[in-house]
Amino acid sequence: MPSGIDLLVTEEILSGLSGNSRPLLRELDLQSVVDSTNAEALRRIAAGVGPGLVCVAEQQTAGRGRRGRDWVSPFAGNLYLSVVWEFARGATALDGLSLAVGVAVTDALARCAVADVKLKWPNDILHQGAKLGGILIEVVGGTTGSCQVVIGIGINVNMPDSAAEEIDQNWTDISRITRTTPGRNELLAALLDELLPMLPAFEQEGFAAWRARWSERDAYAGCPVVVHSGPQRMAGIARGVNDAGALLLDAGGEVQTLHGGEVSLRLDT
Ligand code: BTN
Repeated sequence: MPSGIDLLVTEEILSGLSGNSRPLLRELDLQSVVDSTNAEALRRIAAGVGPGLVCVAEQQTAGRGRRGRDWVSPFAGNLYLSVVWEFARGATALDGLSLAVGVAVTDALARCAVADVKLKWPNDILHQGAKLGGILIEVVGGTTGSCQVVIGIGINVNMPDSAAEEIDQNWTDISRITRTTPGRNELLAALLDELLPMLPAFEQEGFAAWRARWSERDAYAGCPVVVHSGPQRMAGIARGVNDAGALLLDAGGEVQTLHGGEVSLRLDT
């Protein structure tokens, strides 16, 4: 990375894309500041944009996390992107999509020499138990017929200390886990290069084709966990996921199948 501030540059990102991903990119909308790249992508969908739009920002003023949390998004430190895609078979065909996206993210990070990144069901990106990134998928459309999806990804690259004070969970960033932090343009190109070709393949094959790769990166496989779902709490041993991307929880010898939504997972200490 050159010295000084590492700004995102459209031409550099595009030049890092391969022939597998470039034809799938309709538009790279790179902005300095937005409220949320997911919100921006949803506005563009409402205005009629089709699949292949990627919204990227240097800063988000209202970055969205899961379960109503904020996503701390300071200027030019991290990566914030949202990819618009369309699935012909409706929201019911999206089971496991966020897990498959997690696999694409870990593959992209590995390409940039960011190793040992793990996945926590349903969509956290971890390094040694600390949160390195997250995925927030928002869907427009019905359970059947075509639906449009916004796949939001945030990766902590170089989190300034001043912004870090706002984070209310155990976190890390790439600069803390690698000797040489890759440039954000290179990282973003690798992410899009892994993610865009994955999306049409996912529509054809479903999560089953990603299950083995997700399992290799499963942060909590075989660990005692507590799963919270609304007011409910269930303890057991995490036994990976099924072909639909649902969590398998061994609760006293009986394996329960837990789907996404508001379920969260914590190490049972
Ligand atoms: C999580 O809580 O783990 C999900 C975080 C997702 C953050 C990303 S940053 C880009 C996109 N825009 C948003 O407002 N949120 C997602």
